[in-house]
Amino acid sequence: MPTILEVKTPRLGTALPGPNAKRVLEQDAKFMSPSYTRDYPLVAKRGHGAIVEDVDGNSFLDFAAGIAVCSTGHCHPKVVAAIQKQAAELIHMSGTDFYYESMPQLAERLGQTMPGAENKKVFFTNSGTEAIEGAIKLARYATKRDKLIAFYGCFHGRSMGALSLTASKSTQRKGFGALLSGIEHIPFPYAYRCAHGHTAETCGAEILEQLEGQIFKRLFDPEDVAGIIIEPIQGEGGYVPAPKFFLRELQRICRQHGIMFIVDEVQSGMGRTGKWWACEHSGIEPDILCSAKGIASGMPLGAIIARESVMRWTPGAHGTTFGGNPVCLAAALATMDLIETEYKENARRMGEYRFGRLADWTKNFKIVGDVRGRGLMIGIEIVRDQRTKERAADLRNAIVDLAFHKGLLVLGAGENTIRLSPPLLIDQEQADFAVRTLEDCFREVEKKI
Ligand SMILES: Cc1ncc(COP(=O)(O)O)c(C=O)c1O
Repeated sequence: MPTILEVKTPRLGTALPGPNAKRVLEQDAKFMSPSYTRDYPLVAKRGHGAIVEDVDGNSFLDFAAGIAVCSTGHCHPKVVAAIQKQAAELIHMSGTDFYYESMPQLAERLGQTMPGAENKKVFFTNSGTEAIEGAIKLARYATKRDKLIAFYGCFHGRSMGALSLTASKSTQRKGFGALLSGIEHIPFPYAYRCAHGHTAETCGAEILEQLEGQIFKRLFDPEDVAGIIIEPIQGEGGYVPAPKFFLRELQRICRQHGIMFIVDEVQSGMGRTGKWWACEHSGIEPDILCSAKGIASGMPLGAIIARESVMRWTPGAHGTTFGGNPVCLAAALATMDLIETEYKENARRMGEYRFGRLADWTKNFKIVGDVRGRGLMIGIEIVRDQRTKERAADLRNAIVDLAFHKGLLVLGAGENTIRLSPPLLIDQEQADFAVRTLEDCFREVEKKI
C-alpha cells in the first residue's frame, strides 16, 4: 500500500478494526476509564495532513481533526520543526514565576487578532476548560459581581466551574452533585428549531426579551451579573450558529449593564470559520475571549484573551504551572503563521465550495433536516422526518459508523448532528471525497428505513 505521505484519500486494507487495533481495544477496555465516548474503533498510529493511518496500515481521511484541534493538519512539518527546536532548547520554566520570550510574543499576536482597538492581555492555560474556568474568575474579579448567564446547548468544559456553565447533555452533569450557584441558562437561538418560526437571521428576539424582561426583572438584577458567556457557533451542542443580530444585541445588553461579554471560541476559533474568530462575522467586540483546541495544532494550550482594562487582576490572583509551556507556545506561533498565510483563507474558500454542494442535501435526502455552519465548521442535522424534524440519533450514529468503514472520520455533535471539522488545509479532492462518501452513507441508511 502507498505510504501516508503519498495518499490524499483513504486506503483500507483490512476489515475494521484490524488485528492490531483489536489488541489495543482489548487492553483499552481493561485499563482505561469507561467515561470516554468513542464512536468507532479507530486506533491511530500516525498522521500527515488530513490523513490518519491506523495500527494496521489503513489510512483515513480525517474530517474530525481530533475534535477540531489539528488546525494545520497532522504533524505539519513547520509545527513539528518548531516543537523539536524548542524541545531541544527549553521544555519547561513556568511562566507563572519566570519569563521567556515566546510568552509575550504569542500574547501580542493573539491580542491583535481579537476584535476591538483596546490593547489586550493574555493568560495561557492547558485546555479550553481551564480558559473558561479562568474567564469565570476574571469576570467575577473585574466586576466584583458573581452571577453568570449561559445558554442551553452550550458546552464550556467539565471542571466544576466550567461544567456549571455547560448545558449540553445531562450525562455530563449526572452524579456530580451541586455545581456553582448563581448561574442561569437561557435558550440558544437555534434557527432550525426556532419556537417562533424565525429564520437563521432573525431567530432569538424572544430570548433577548426573556433575558431583559424576565431574568433581569425576576431573578438576577443585571448589576449582580458578572458575565454572559456564549459560543458564537455552538460546537458540542450541534454546530449551531447564533444569528449576527443576536450577538450584537447581547453585546449591547452587556455594555448597558457593565456585564462582561465572554465569547467561547474554543471550537469555533483559530481560522476555522475563515476568520480568526467566529465572532468577527457579527462585528462584535467581546470583553473576554477564550481559545484552545486549534491554537497549537494539537499541543495542549488554551488562552484567555481580554481587554487590558478587564485583565487587571493582581499578582497571585491566578496562576498555573504548565499553562503556556514553551513547547506549546512554539507550536502555537508556527500554527498562527500557517493559519495567517494560508489556512484561514483556505477554510473560507473550501467552506464556500463545499456549501455549494451541501445546499442541495435537504432536497436530495429525506433524512437531512438542516445543513449549517461557516467555513470548515459544518453541521448536518439528521432527522427521521423533515416535516416533524424528529431527531434521529440512531441514523446519525449509523452514518458516522458507515463513514468510518468507508475511510472517512467524522464525529457527532448534539443529539443528532454530524459535525465536519477537518484540518484547515483540505483541498478540493478531499472535500469532494467527503461529500461523495457522506452521500453514499445517506443513501445506504435511507434504504434501511
Ligand atoms: C466551545 C468549547 N469550550 C470549551 C471546551 C473545553 O475544552 P477542553 O476539552 O480543551 O477542556 C470545549 C471542548 O470541546 C468546547 O468545544
